[in-house]
Amino acid sequence: MTIHFIGAGPGAPDLITVRGLNLIKFCPVCLYAGSLVPPEVVAAAPEGAEVIDTAPLHLDQIIEKIEEAHSKGQDVARVHSGDPSIYGAIAEQMRRLDALCIDYDVTPGVPAFAAAAAALNRELTLPEVSQTIILTRTDGKASAMPKGEELANLAASTPTLAIHLSVRNLKKVIADLVPHYGEDCPVYVIYRVSWPDQQIISGTLANIRAKVREAKITRTALIMVGHVFGDDDFIDSRLYAKDHKHVLRLK
Ligand SMILES: C[S@@+](CC[C@H](N)C(=O)[O-])C[C@H]1O[C@@H](n2cnc3c(N)ncnc32)[C@H](O)[C@@H]1O
Repeated sequence: MTIHFIGAGPGAPDLITVRGLNLIKFCPVCLYAGSLVPPEVVAAAPEGAEVIDTAPLHLDQIIEKIEEAHSKGQDVARVHSGDPSIYGAIAEQMRRLDALCIDYDVTPGVPAFAAAAAALNRELTLPEVSQTIILTRTDGKASAMPKGEELANLAASTPTLAIHLSVRNLKKVIADLVPHYGEDCPVYVIYRVSWPDQQIISGTLANIRAKVREAKITRTALIMVGHVFGDDDFIDSRLYAKDHKHVLRLK
C-alpha cells in the first residue's frame, strides 16, 4: 500500500489534476486538510471510503490513521490544498513515514498563486519588468521567518511577490515594501480564489489596507504585489518576435 500526497488545487473541484482525482476515486481512506480543501473535492472517494477531515487532528493522530490503514493494506489519499510542496507540512509526514517504512508518492496541484494569476488574467513575469516571482510569507503565530528571509530583504530586487498567510500582517507588509516598490505600486488581495465566495481587492500599497479592512478579509488570502500589475506598457517578449530565430523557427 501507498500514501498518496495529492494537491487539491485552490478550491474549485475541477482544478484538481486528473491523476489526483483518480487517486481519490481509488483509495479506501481519504485524509484531507478541511480548512482549505472543500468537501466537494473529496466527494469522489469511493462508496464506503473512510473520509476524514484532518484539520482538528495533530501530527501523531494523522500518522496513527495512516498506520491503521497501512496495517489493513489500504492505500490512503492524503489531500492538501493547492500544491503540497508549498506550506503543505508534508515534509514532517514524510519523515515519519520513512521511519515507519511506509511508501508514499506525491501528485502536484495548482497552487493558489497560479490560480490567482489566472483569476486576474495576468502574467507574473514580464520582459524588463520582472522575471522573478517570490513565494513567501511573513512571521505567523506558528512559524517565524528564517533569518535573512525577512520581506524587507526579499523586496530589495522588486520581484513579483505572492505573499501567503499574511493578510493579518498587511500593515507591516506595506511598511516593508513601500521603500522598494513605492506607494503607487499595484497590489491585489485575492480571497479564496476559485471558491464561490472569491473576492479580488485591487489597489496600491498606499490604499490597499483600508480596502481590505472594509472587505473584512482576515484569512485565506494572497497578497500579490509587483510592477507587472501596472499599465500595459511593457515590451513584447522576444519569443514570438518575427526576427527571432530559434530551434523551432529557423526561417
Ligand atoms: C498553508 S498555505 C497553503 C498553500 C497551498 N499549498 C498552495 O499551494 O497554494 C495557506 C495560504 O495559502 C494561500 N491560499 C491557499 N488557498 C488559497 C485560495 N484559494 N485563495 C487565496 N489564497 C489561498 C493563503 O495565503 C493561505 O493563507
